[in-house]
Amino acid sequence: MPATAKPALSLLIIDDNAASLDLLSTALAQPGLEILTAADPEEGLDLAHSHHPQIVLTDLVMPRLSGLEVLERIMEFDPSTDVILMTAHYSTESAVEAIRKGASDYLNKPVSIAALREPARRRQRALQLEDELLASAEFERIVGHTPLMWDMFSRIRRVAPHYRVVLVTGETGTGKDLVAQALHRLSPAASGRYVVLNCSAVVETLFESELFGHVKGSFTGASHDKAGMFEHAHGGTLFLDEIGDMPLGTQAKLLRVLQNQEVQRVGSLTSHKVDVRVIAATNHDLRAAIAEKRFREDLYYRLSMVEVQVPRLADRKEDLPLLERHFIGRFAGQYGKEIRGLTHRAQIRLSLHSWPGNVRELENVIGHACMMALGDTIDLQDLPTYLHVPSEQAASVQAPLPSPSEVGALEEQERLLIVRALEAAGGNQSQAARLLRIGRDALRYKLKKHNLPTTR
Ligand SMILES: Nc1ncnc2c1ncn2[C@@H]1O[C@H](COP(=O)(O)OP(=O)(O)O)[C@@H](O)[C@H]1O
Ligand SMILES: [Mg+2]
Repeated sequence: MPATAKPALSLLIIDDNAASLDLLSTALAQPGLEILTAADPEEGLDLAHSHHPQIVLTDLVMPRLSGLEVLERIMEFDPSTDVILMTAHYSTESAVEAIRKGASDYLNKPVSIAALREPARRRQRALQLEDELLASAEFERIVGHTPLMWDMFSRIRRVAPHYRVVLVTGETGTGKDLVAQALHRLSPAASGRYVVLNCSAVVETLFESELFGHVKGSFTGASHDKAGMFEHAHGGTLFLDEIGDMPLGTQAKLLRVLQNQEVQRVGSLTSHKVDVRVIAATNHDLRAAIAEKRFREDLYYRLSMVEVQVPRLADRKEDLPLLERHFIGRFAGQYGKEIRGLTHRAQIRLSLHSWPGNVRELENVIGHACMMALGDTIDLQDLPTYLHVPSEQAASVQAPLPSPSEVGALEEQERLLIVRALEAAGGNQSQAARLLRIGRDALRYKLKKHNLPTTR
């Protein structure tokens, strides 16, 4: 490797134990890595401010300032820093707390030499992974290349090795199932079972038996002893979908299982230890359910300690072209057709839709269009009929221009004018720009601003 003026990577180690600090910096020394050390956390923070290291390795228990406080302060001024905590007092709770505050990892002391070299390697791997991610625009089968999605991918990657319980929230069709599967696959329980229970599909009276099992004769119809889903998922993951639909009584029992890691079959006096990671998902606002006394507040707090929020499609419309391509690829293959893409005006129509059903709705729309398409491109008439009927916005596009007194948001009017011009120009941007009497660059800028497709 050619010598460079500035090392590619800079690592800061903070540990109040001088011997440990020495050991760490010796073991980690490698070409291309600058190592800074501080025995005092305050001094460490100063170094972090002045040198902006990409990685900070900090002890957890130190006088004056704890590793968690160091983490918080660093996250405040540079959240992209990889902060790794080390501790002799490892517990899942404290690891989760650290991850929740933004730590990249949490290592048990004494850390092995191999583990010591990990942070630098991991950062390089992370960068590589990040590159792959950008290139493929897909993370663990989840398609997306917008900052909202990158944040989510990064969160999944950080949470997965440590969580015991995690809550996945998002509207219906946003991809919560995919997120739950990714969390399982990236967790230490990946080789264990992945057991799914959809809480909205279980008869209330059978709920506890499903989850915890039962013993013969414990209720009418219980003709054998039966293991519940928790026992099935032992060593793996239990995914509780639509947790908001779980009956209140069952919620109380679930909380107890989460706290004790023990289940008791219905009708039994003895309990079994279980080692199960729990992922709960909901598309309801659980806080509203709490206010209506349909959801237990204590369970909510237990579940939401670590939360992964899945963004709405409407909030990441820049992902539409990518998702369209993704689904066209899938359905064209399925129907044995060669479909190149959507016409510009079909793309515009999709970008004007509000997508209440999120990605699932888009998946259905593209599936339908691929089935209907006669040629190699999808046009307006191939879209489902509800999208033919101009949406509210599209309707006003066709209507005469509103008078200034009717003008709502100025931005919205601008967007409508642009869409109208593009439709009139059959998608030709130069022509649309001429119709609008603005330059092509100005039009491009405005297309971006309004999340309209910029490709032609
Ligand atoms: N980001 C995404 N990339 C690719 N496919 C997605 C994405 N989000 C959702 N999907 C697909 O959309 C459909 C609905 O997703 P799902 O995970 O079932 O949503 P939810 O559980 O939030 O209702 C599934 O077929 C899923 O594969
Ligand atoms: Mg789902």
